[in-house]
Amino acid sequence: MTNDPRPTITLALLGFGTVGQSVVRILAIGDVAGVVLTHIFNRQVARKRADWVPSTVQWTESIDDIVNSDADIVIEVVGGVNPTAEWVRRALEAGKSVVTANKQLIAHQGSDLLALAQSKGVELRFEASVAGGIPVLRALQEGLSGDRLVEVRGILNGTCAYILSRMQKHGASFADALREAQQAGYAEADPTEDVDGADAAAKLAIISAVGLRRPVKVRDIATRSIRPIETVDFEYAKELGCTIRQIARASIDDGGDRVFAAVRPALVQLASAFGQIEGSQNIVSVRGVHGGETTFSGSGAGGGPTAVAVVSDVLSIRRTLVGAPGLATPMARQIYPVSSDFVAPHYVRFIVNDKPGILAQVTSAYSKFGINIDGVLQLPRFRKDRLPFVTTLEECAESMLDKALAEVARSDYHVQPPLALPIFA
Ligand SMILES: NC(=O)c1ccc[n+]([C@@H]2O[C@H](COP(=O)([O-])OP(=O)(O)OC[C@H]3O[C@@H](n4cnc5c(N)ncnc54)[C@H](OP(=O)(O)O)[C@@H]3O)[C@@H](O)[C@H]2O)c1
Repeated sequence: MTNDPRPTITLALLGFGTVGQSVVRILAIGDVAGVVLTHIFNRQVARKRADWVPSTVQWTESIDDIVNSDADIVIEVVGGVNPTAEWVRRALEAGKSVVTANKQLIAHQGSDLLALAQSKGVELRFEASVAGGIPVLRALQEGLSGDRLVEVRGILNGTCAYILSRMQKHGASFADALREAQQAGYAEADPTEDVDGADAAAKLAIISAVGLRRPVKVRDIATRSIRPIETVDFEYAKELGCTIRQIARASIDDGGDRVFAAVRPALVQLASAFGQIEGSQNIVSVRGVHGGETTFSGSGAGGGPTAVAVVSDVLSIRRTLVGAPGLATPMARQIYPVSSDFVAPHYVRFIVNDKPGILAQVTSAYSKFGINIDGVLQLPRFRKDRLPFVTTLEECAESMLDKALAEVARSDYHVQPPLALPIFA
């Protein structure tokens, strides 16, 4: 507790759930000087009241009470785009700054809401929306603002990291690992947003806007699911010194006009920091023209770490409100088109009903599209009528590989469609 003589800033909280309760606990402990919580908003608020919350706090289920209150800062930790976008808009219009942990809201409406905040002379902060407790956005905006960042790669989804590390370490199938993740609280009953890539795509869109200064539409970011990954893929990946993780990746070309962005499962070196990520740990690595590579890792989720990011944003706004200079608006309004056609070495796994000539057909399709084979792997012990084998490929554009595989896929010997994964060194 400090004896800060500057004015006290008042806060209203929307959403008394996992993150909201952790925010209130941090504020209630009294470690944070110069701010006081005045309102908590939640639906059916009577059942949410907690006796450890200071008695001076007003509980409400009316958003009008918040908009009409004297609160300087509204903290939005409800989630979802509707009706939260409307609430955030009303708070900004009423001259309140807003702190949110809501990636979907910022990824889809961040530019508009930031413009509104700027026109009202207030702030909108969203550090907790990406990588939970890791202060990635602030690092990109402040610590690395002297560089021109051209590439970002990250593991941004804890559900996928949990499932893939279970499959890697325990030989679990995707279905079993998903069930375990659900039992352990790492996956929702409907895991679609996580395993099919939409969650990571929303976070990648925010990092692209803030770090690469290239706002993109979330729906323009191509995503591929981790569902087709089989345990055999981990066996082959291991032969190559690798494992598999869901990787979110964005980069800009030399001219700075084209944005590449995609979320997909990929091979990463087993011994690398990316290969070691499990559960709710996140990692983000950025590359700048002048400073080279910088990597951040830590807790990407959980009430405590996420609440720390929220409270840090609150304190940053307070510094502005009481006189210290703030940050520039981090998102330009121009939206850039996105391509997902990264060039990378690839791993391609086939499961076939074996017969002579299959490899020749595959290699001829590769060569037709200018793709060079690096190696062929075939582990012993598999049945001939369900034989997995892997080709590793030198660097090639994903669009060319898709064309080659479309040609190969027409043959009748496939037991399952081929699986292609980029290999990140
Ligand atoms: N949890 C994390 O680890 C984490 C990490 C990073 C970012 N975030 C983000 O933080 C936000 C909150 O996440 P959370 O995990 O704290 O969610 P949560 O536990 O589900 O809490 C949401 C709270 O908002 C309330 N609420 C929901 N819809 C409402 C409505 N229409 N009107 C009024 N109140 C409503 C809920 O009330 P009920 O009790 O009635 O449902 C609940 O108290 C989300 O945007 C999430 O993406 C979370």
